[in-house]
Amino acid sequence: MVASISVPGQAHWSSKAAFVLAAVGSAVGLGNLWRFPSEAGANGGGAFVLIYILCVALIGAPLLLAETLIGRHGQRSTVGSAKLLARQSNASSGWAALAVIGMIANYLILTFYSVVAGWVLYFIWTSGADVARTVAAGQPFAGAYADLTIDQVRQQMPDLFADPVKMSIAHFIFAAATTFVVARGVKGGIEVAATWLMPAFFVLLLGITVYAGITGDFAAAVAFLFTPDFERALQPQVLNSALGQAFFSLSLGGGAMVAYGAYASRDTNLGQTSGLISAADTSVAIIAGLAIFPIVFSVGLTPDAGPTLMFQTLPAAFHSMPAGALVAFAFFVLALFAALTSSVSLLEISTAYLVERFKMSRTLAAGLLGGGFFLIGMVSVLSFNVWADHRPLALVPGFTNANWFDVFDGVTGRILLPLSGLITAVFIGWIADRKLVDEETGLKSGPLLPLWRFLVAWLCPIAVFLILLFGLFPQLIS
Ligand code: TRP
Repeated sequence: MVASISVPGQAHWSSKAAFVLAAVGSAVGLGNLWRFPSEAGANGGGAFVLIYILCVALIGAPLLLAETLIGRHGQRSTVGSAKLLARQSNASSGWAALAVIGMIANYLILTFYSVVAGWVLYFIWTSGADVARTVAAGQPFAGAYADLTIDQVRQQMPDLFADPVKMSIAHFIFAAATTFVVARGVKGGIEVAATWLMPAFFVLLLGITVYAGITGDFAAAVAFLFTPDFERALQPQVLNSALGQAFFSLSLGGGAMVAYGAYASRDTNLGQTSGLISAADTSVAIIAGLAIFPIVFSVGLTPDAGPTLMFQTLPAAFHSMPAGALVAFAFFVLALFAALTSSVSLLEISTAYLVERFKMSRTLAAGLLGGGFFLIGMVSVLSFNVWADHRPLALVPGFTNANWFDVFDGVTGRILLPLSGLITAVFIGWIADRKLVDEETGLKSGPLLPLWRFLVAWLCPIAVFLILLFGLFPQLIS
């Protein structure tokens, strides 16, 4: 999929479509399926969704352009590209901090991302066994888990949480698979496969959404997701969570998108592709919400169930669905694939850095980092059972009730990614050479270039700074 053009030694996507698909493959993942519904449910539904869409349109998409242009201009690793642009703008190479923070954040995301992907693996296992059972019984088109009651279907998730051994095995398998792919080099197989499997995933998700809409409480779901409670929307916690989710879901924060930009060819219009990628990612999140919430309301779950939401509602829908057993299995396999295309790019960033910086072999770098994130991820595994009562940041506002898993998730999503985005916005909006930057955007004529400049130079830094500040110190405004 990659062939060398223009800069010697630098690989490129074979087409603009390939770049967009690869970036969408990084963006679409558990963030859309699992994190978006759970954050929306915990933060008041419509209020969160409204703020989320504003965050994507006014902060996420402009920053996506800023990040991809740093990469495409530099044509090297994330840190290297940021340093180069700083040097050419006669600015301190300290601005590359945006990429260093991004790299650390992405590595920490991987530690718990792999745990959640392990849950998906577990459901592949149970739904696969279920398919085998229905086929053996001569009823291949039966609903999923037909031998269980609906309560037992929902109970699978709490049962898994209570079982650190099963959870660690699943986490280990996913971590090993991610490490294996990165050690072999990301370029070949996985991206070719992604261009086929991601569309398949999208079609299946749409089908499940239509089914959920027909059989579940669609009206209640639409009301919940699209009726904003404006008072709630302005709460610092909601603003902070929505901003964090926008960064998480778009793979922003100084890592993946800078790296992917480096593979984009000169004639790719980055302004256009940033809009496309943001729109595609947001659509998938909203469609996932429309698949999950009708079932939440029809089976009597509460929307603020948090991380368990997707894994309790979807199996409940598959339970009553014709051919549910097969659909469940297909869905979890494709969800795993979406997770793997994201986890691979999460690990690739630090691996590429170790290879470049310490001249390590790719296998050694990926192996060391892979073992490391598996071990750190074990802390998240244990926070659902053995360490369920630990509140590591009990003294920090916004984290008083957070267990270890919530701390990894919250510190990266709500603090590190926005922090890196803040530095990016100031760097691109104020510090970097204006002519170099403007040329890279592809926004040549018309009002879009000044609009983008305004968003990056003014709105992004101010809004991200305020949301970070008040999200972390809500007492400042109360
Ligand atoms: N966007 C991914 C998802 O929604 C998760 C993610 C966050 C990510 N940051 C990333 C993926 C960086 C790749 C690279 O699932």
